[in-house]
Amino acid sequence: MAQKLIIDTDPGVDDAFALALAALGSDVELLGVTSVYGNVPLSATTINARRLLALCKRPDVPVAAGAARPLVHRHPNEAGYVHGADGLSGRSTTLPEPARPLDERDAVALMADLLAAADEPVTIAPIGPLTNIAALLAAHPAAAEKIERVVIMGGALGHGNSTAAAEFNVWSDPEAAHRVLTGGEAPCVLVPMDLTYRCAVDAAWLDELASSGPIGAALHALTPDYREHYRGALGWDGMVIHDAVAVAEAILPGTLHTERVPVQVECSFGPGRGATHADRRLPALRASGADPVPAAEVEVAVDTDLDALRGLLLDRLR
Ligand code: RIB
Ligand code: CA
Repeated sequence: MAQKLIIDTDPGVDDAFALALAALGSDVELLGVTSVYGNVPLSATTINARRLLALCKRPDVPVAAGAARPLVHRHPNEAGYVHGADGLSGRSTTLPEPARPLDERDAVALMADLLAAADEPVTIAPIGPLTNIAALLAAHPAAAEKIERVVIMGGALGHGNSTAAAEFNVWSDPEAAHRVLTGGEAPCVLVPMDLTYRCAVDAAWLDELASSGPIGAALHALTPDYREHYRGALGWDGMVIHDAVAVAEAILPGTLHTERVPVQVECSFGPGRGATHADRRLPALRASGADPVPAAEVEVAVDTDLDALRGLLLDRLR
């Protein structure tokens, strides 16, 4: 049975790899894509998502636009410097024009409709700020019954990227992330940057992608600004395709090895804002501790077969 999937995204170069991974998968039923502000403003992430689906020849997949800003506080920053001014290294207009109009529904309405219509539970893969997902859970509590898993790229067990403490997606809207991760309405898998960094791809992998065919060549053409950023972030010539790691788990459950722990998000203002605190104490110690243990536990991805994952990504993007 094909994996029913909705992707919520802020393309974004690594989002482009993740969208292609899902759109090209014969074992994936990509029901819809929703856009959110994040790497670049909503207008840019929305047209990027539509163009990327046109690149993958998926006129059947609806795209609906979602939140243009976080739930409570203004967006602290955008990562244009990482993904380029248009979110795709300035190459968005080199992609095909959208093959279908933007859906007239907003992101939350599209997700709610797709969940209601599905005859099997649906996996949702948020790979940008979690604003749309928090809004969905708040506005449509019954929709959670049709959610199989929420597989999130976000968070950091160790240091962050946007700040010392916080990873970009969570840092963009900590309140939304806390709502999703502690609400307990739907099973969550959190794929933090600690693991996605370990899955970084190198120049040889990128060269192989570039020569693998038209889709690979097109994705490779979107990478210059992003690759330049990661040359500095990694200290060698490679890239971290964070979102593709999370979507690989969304479409192939069990690809990533997880630990089941409660996770809370720091929502105060200060150096720790946006930090994801995974409580990895043993349950007995957790229960005896002084702090209130949040109701929900989530699966936090902590390991995978790195070479097998890189090979899987390349094979599926060819
Ligand atoms: O921190 C990495 C995440 O932030 C990825 O989703 C990337 O696309 C950016 O949105
Ligand atoms: Ca993203």
